[in-house]
Amino acid sequence: MVNEEGLHVAIIMDGNGRWAANRGLPRTAGHREGAKALERVLDAAPRLNIRVLTVFALSSDNLHRPEAEVRALLSLLKTRLQSEMQSFKAHGMRLSVIGRRDRLPRDVLRAIEEAEGLTAECSDWRFRIALDYSSREAILSAARTCEGVPDLTQAAFSQLVSGCGRGETPEVDLLIRAVGEQRLSDFLLWESAYAELYFSPILWPDFDGQALAVAVEDFHKRDRRFGRVDGAGGVDGMQSITGRS
Ligand code: FPP
Repeated sequence: MVNEEGLHVAIIMDGNGRWAANRGLPRTAGHREGAKALERVLDAAPRLNIRVLTVFALSSDNLHRPEAEVRALLSLLKTRLQSEMQSFKAHGMRLSVIGRRDRLPRDVLRAIEEAEGLTAECSDWRFRIALDYSSREAILSAARTCEGVPDLTQAAFSQLVSGCGRGETPEVDLLIRAVGEQRLSDFLLWESAYAELYFSPILWPDFDGQALAVAVEDFHKRDRRFGRVDGAGGVDGMQSITGRS
């Protein structure tokens, strides 16, 4: 079953450090190339019917990396947002940043808010950047806000967890991780309950539209059953056994 509205693809952009080490370059050079790879992916995404793209730019755990690396990543993000936000708007793309904001430097926060404000009315597709993000923290913080709420539904809780204001964020359809590491690293745990996982052998700085197309093509070959079986027909097993749905 494919989301008629288009896909929500999430990407763990891994391998920047290894890409740089392979060339005897500092890790920050890998992140710079990683930002270029992200631009290639953003160019290709609309052609692949991607309606929401969420990327893991900086996890809350990544904040424990050396200060110079964290600063360089934040500064890269800021300059990219400043130089790209008009183009985001021209392409009908709404940008939002998910994750904690209270630890971000003021200038970075200003650039985020400016880009979010400028693209707030764009509705063709969405680009979400996870920054100082921990999925467990997002789930915990959603749980705190609805403590004592009666009849809380999964749909209502999902809205709180996804935490990006207006509009519903669909569940993740396809989660891609570069370099072949096979773990989720505290990224979109709630939203990826039925995501198809795709582990690409490619280092993130070498990733491009073609690599994204290969991942999406693989996704379309998957048989998504959401825990059910195909073509069983007949009476719903649960209803038949318990008399309840
Ligand atoms: C993981 O590779 C990558 C990151 C922690 C940063 C990802 C950020 C970018 C691609 C920069 C561009 C982002 C924006 C939004 C402009 P790693 O450093 O853990 O690599 P390693 O596992 O090989 O050491």
